[in-house]
Amino acid sequence: MSALLRASCALLLLWLSRCCGCRVRIPPHDQAARVARFVAHQCDWASMATVSTHAPALGRPFSNVFSFSDGPQGSGTGVPYLYLTPMELSVQDLQVDSQASLSMSLAQTDYCRQQGFDPQSPLCAHIILTGSVLQVTGLEAEFAQKSLFSRHPEMEAWPPDHGWFFCKFNITQVWVLDYFGGVKLVSPEEYFQASPHPKH
Ligand SMILES: *[C@@H]1O[C@H](CO)[C@@H](O)[C@H](O)[C@H]1NC(C)=O
Repeated sequence: MSALLRASCALLLLWLSRCCGCRVRIPPHDQAARVARFVAHQCDWASMATVSTHAPALGRPFSNVFSFSDGPQGSGTGVPYLYLTPMELSVQDLQVDSQASLSMSLAQTDYCRQQGFDPQSPLCAHIILTGSVLQVTGLEAEFAQKSLFSRHPEMEAWPPDHGWFFCKFNITQVWVLDYFGGVKLVSPEEYFQASPHPKH
């Protein structure tokens, strides 16, 4: 094989491997609402901060990890659904004050590692949702269950005597960090209207 042919093959392989990694592409950074929807759909878990009701953190911010889903893979709604039990610390906080914030980052996907972006870099896109956690019932609970159990199959086997229930994070403001120049504020209306997927 000639050196030129070898080099061409290496380039082709590199291109192919990049394309596998970029099956799902992040929307352009000037479209913050779409970036937010993209992050909310790619992420499987978030850090949720509540106002603590537990000593010695009483009245202080308290953040903890939660699995969530905004819809089955490939059909995100933008609404983060949660599966919670009253036995859990942060859920006990929410029963006193349902206000919370939820932060999620592409650091939990391959994207930031592949691009070489540190999790604290704004280029490693991350969002913070502020709002409150509300229980859902009826058809919305059925949708929450489908969304969560399809992406977190282990949930189905969680102890039945723990009183699990479905919730949604009711978003009042979206904060987007996906580029230099500071945070971008996106209203819930803009967020829910945006498409997380590239337009064809
Ligand atoms: C849910 O969020 C909307 C804004 O998207 C807000 O107007 C509404 O008051 C919130 N509902 C509750 C119960 O917090």
